Amino acid sequence: MRIDIVTVFPEMVEPVIQCSMLARGQQAGSLQIRAADLRQFTHDRHRTTDDTPFGGGAGMVMKPEPFFEAVEHLREEAGWVPARIVVTTPQGRLFNQQMAVEFAQVPHLILLCGHYEGIDERVCQHLATDELSIGDYVLTGGELPALVIADAVSRLVPGVLGNPESLQQDSFVDGLLAPPQYTRPAEYRGYGVPEVLLSGHHANIARWRRLQQLLRTRERRPDLWQKVSLTPEDIKLLREAEQ
Ligand code: ADE
Repeated sequence: MRIDIVTVFPEMVEPVIQCSMLARGQQAGSLQIRAADLRQFTHDRHRTTDDTPFGGGAGMVMKPEPFFEAVEHLREEAGWVPARIVVTTPQGRLFNQQMAVEFAQVPHLILLCGHYEGIDERVCQHLATDELSIGDYVLTGGELPALVIADAVSRLVPGVLGNPESLQQDSFVDGLLAPPQYTRPAEYRGYGVPEVLLSGHHANIARWRRLQQLLRTRERRPDLWQKVSLTPEDIKLLREAEQ
């Protein structure tokens, strides 16, 4: 899979994509992530990427032409394989794990980072396939959101994670938060570990973990809890826990 992050601050993005699992995936050859400098797609002496808003008002708006030219260049370079073109903006749909799974199946993901007061709406309407937000807060630019999305998608690309089984234990995979985890020592500063985890009884451990997922999700995330479809076994576990 190829991911391009189009930005006026490539120097902000580059160190992150050269680190950790993202670097590993790239070394393994299953992933290619790059920062593209939006200014390379300008034609004036000052390499202008923004301008004042039509209709007046405070701040600057990012011009459409460099984004259109950047996307055309990157898609041509990638051989016009199917692509999702994402604008990161607080006005977008809220990014979630299901979208990460969807994007990981597309060969080319292009992330366009906004700045200032926003991006010319024609980029959103006629170039982007998606407008995404990473949460209800306003950041100074789209670079961190683009990196968040690139990271969440990359770890789902086969060959990026060392142990793909760990994906099955992700939070949100079945609409539930992940259960608590413990490691050695079994007692630390007087704090113990739930007995069942030390028992070696795999079926009991699986039941305990499932119950923790249910309890945590119900308590911490009523929004997710509303959408969970409980199995008869889940209902039994919850009933037993309540007794
Ligand atoms: N740009 C600024 N804030 C943002 C957010 N919360 N999500 C996505 N893009 C943004």
